[in-house]
Amino acid sequence: MREKVNQTWGGRFSKPTDEFVKIFGASIFFDKILAPYDIQSSIAHATMLQEVGLLTKNEKNQIIKGLEKILSEIKTGEFKWSVTLEDVHMNIEARLVEMIGDAGKKLHTGRSRNDQVATDIRLYLRDQVDDITGEIKRLQLVLTDLAEKEASTIMPGFTHLQAAQPISFGHHMMAYFEMLARDVERLFDCRKRVNSMPLGSAALAGTTYPIKRTRTAELLGFERICLNSLDGVSDRDFAIEFLSTASIIMMHLSRFSEELILWSSAQFNFIELPDNFCTGSSIMPQKKNPDVPELVRGKTGRVYGNLTSLLTIMKSQPLAYNKDNQEDKEPLFDTVDTLKACLRVFADMVPIIQTKRDNMYNSTKQGYTTATDLADYLVNKGLPFRDAHEVVGKSVAYGIEHQKDLSELSLEELQTFDSRIENDVFEVLSLEGSLNARNHLGATSPNQVKQAIKIARETLK
Ligand code: ARG
Repeated sequence: MREKVNQTWGGRFSKPTDEFVKIFGASIFFDKILAPYDIQSSIAHATMLQEVGLLTKNEKNQIIKGLEKILSEIKTGEFKWSVTLEDVHMNIEARLVEMIGDAGKKLHTGRSRNDQVATDIRLYLRDQVDDITGEIKRLQLVLTDLAEKEASTIMPGFTHLQAAQPISFGHHMMAYFEMLARDVERLFDCRKRVNSMPLGSAALAGTTYPIKRTRTAELLGFERICLNSLDGVSDRDFAIEFLSTASIIMMHLSRFSEELILWSSAQFNFIELPDNFCTGSSIMPQKKNPDVPELVRGKTGRVYGNLTSLLTIMKSQPLAYNKDNQEDKEPLFDTVDTLKACLRVFADMVPIIQTKRDNMYNSTKQGYTTATDLADYLVNKGLPFRDAHEVVGKSVAYGIEHQKDLSELSLEELQTFDSRIENDVFEVLSLEGSLNARNHLGATSPNQVKQAIKIARETLK
């Protein structure tokens, strides 16, 4: 008789797996974090197997007790992981058999690691999506606090990174709130497709046993079951959707980072980042580097890379499961960890950003940011907009030449460009006047910003 070469599939093989191939093929190094989900889904599976008569009550109870014991061994660190057992599923099953004997060997009835792993990842991701949604909401909340504090703080709004029009710093913060609100919606939508159960697809074709998939799904809190067994084991769309949503979130954090980096530079000098979120230079004593936003900006590339990885892993796989699919985990886990860390560090940092209101104000003043207001003023006095544009362009050129802001020109000077200009122009040319004049839904007047904050906070409840 041939010696058994592998305890899971030894029957067909005459030679044991090459030592390095074992390590090469193992996923235990990274899939152990699925253990709690693997145990959760096994308990549900065993419960269903008993209900349809495939396990006795006693067998089911032994299995559940054993799995619970294994979970506690894993939590305390006593559990011995084995590379020879390749992955989290076989490590747990082997330990179960070691603990309870034959009943343990029955747990795998009517399932395969293919549907098992697909189920585990979805359970994991569903939890992670919920955690991440919570972290985004925390960031949104601190953004509304900062926005409220700075609703009347005037800064230059930019287009082409050239000073364009005065805006409220609070309004600027609320722009990020809006981006994050869309991210929450995307996560919510992605969660629906994560929340579908592959278990019961077995290896690829379903199983000959009279299993009751809806019952297992109910026990695991899945909203629906995957309706095609081939698709069930091979689908990773839900993970790709998550990675693409994560990429968009990171893109938003990266834009925010870029602004914080610019604003904290000596050239802008609009904000001061907290010392405990920055580092110095080992050679240049004057430096205070915005490491945190720089790292978030850098990590964005890494998350995009993970999305590209999984899309590429999936693109040429024939149905159904292929070992390629094992490569889905590291990009997914890395993205979850990276995203959570970036959201956390942002939510911790935003409340302690110091604004330099005077510098923002002076910078707004230097940029001829009320030029549009002057044009609008002339339109109100009967001039067609294009002509008003021309008149204001000339006034700005004059201002540049004489190193004066529009509000610093005298009435006589202004009247040389258009005789319709009167004393009431100065209200329009002031930064405060310009800001307050943009007083409609979605605009930057402090009034509207406060209104937007109120509405925003309602959505967080
Ligand atoms: N460790 C494997 C993975 O992560 C589990 C599924 C293995 N299935 C198989 N037929 N080899 O994908």
